[in-house]
Amino acid sequence: MLEVKNVEVKYGAVPAIKDVSFHINRGQVVSMVGSNGAGKTSLIKSISGLNQITKGEIWFDGIRIDTLPAHQRIKYGISHIPEGRMVFDKLSVYDNLLLGAFVRENEKEIKESLEMVYEMFPILKERSTQKAGTMSGGQQQMLAIARGLMSTPKLVMLDEPSLGLSPALVTEVLEIIKKIKKEGLTILLVEQDVQDALELADYGYVLQNGVISTRGTGEELLSSDIVKKAYLGL
Ligand SMILES: Nc1ncnc2c1ncn2[C@@H]1O[C@H](COP(=O)(O)OP(=O)(O)OP(=O)(O)O)[C@@H](O)[C@H]1O
Ligand SMILES: [Mg+2]
Repeated sequence: MLEVKNVEVKYGAVPAIKDVSFHINRGQVVSMVGSNGAGKTSLIKSISGLNQITKGEIWFDGIRIDTLPAHQRIKYGISHIPEGRMVFDKLSVYDNLLLGAFVRENEKEIKESLEMVYEMFPILKERSTQKAGTMSGGQQQMLAIARGLMSTPKLVMLDEPSLGLSPALVTEVLEIIKKIKKEGLTILLVEQDVQDALELADYGYVLQNGVISTRGTGEELLSSDIVKKAYLGL
């Protein structure tokens, strides 16, 4: 479904992503793990169109997308749930959700999506008129995920959704990711929380200094020496 081929992303003269290639099959959960500054966010942004790539190609559903503007990529079914939630603080929960549907026109279908996310996240229905900035960190993360589902994506990319959450909320976020997978969506999960991300993944990649250093099934990576030593402290 997604194919990233020999991609490079540079900030000025400095490359953050160097010759990265990987793919995601439809219906899979793929995890990309790596430490601070490894290039995880840079890579996700290059897929959603917030970063321009300087080399390589990105294909989605048989279409080359790396030259398309971000809003067009959303229309094709790519949703990016950003690091740090980025909800609109001063807007209500409801208005934040509607903004997630900005590329869509059919009012009836937008309403159906709203019902769907309210069912998945009852707290958002309860708090629909509350200003997003006054929600708790965990609630804001739920809102960010729900907003990302309002564009009816095929591929959902989550950038460190568990960052700063309590263990109980991390478990909740993982359950939600499983639910999203069950709905038939494809998921790219970018995480520093290596254990959880790889347990959940059908396939995983380790990103180090802008390069994919290791790849394999979640199980293979969790039992590999590199991951054990560098990320799990074993
Ligand atoms: N807009 C930018 N301008 C210049 N350098 C940048 C920019 N964005 C990221 N970088 C650099 O690119 C490298 C990769 O950053 P990136 O944010 O992609 O890492 P990350 O893996 O998401 O890290 P974290 O886990 O801390 O979020 C870092 O060295 C960072 O300083
Ligand atoms: Mg990041």
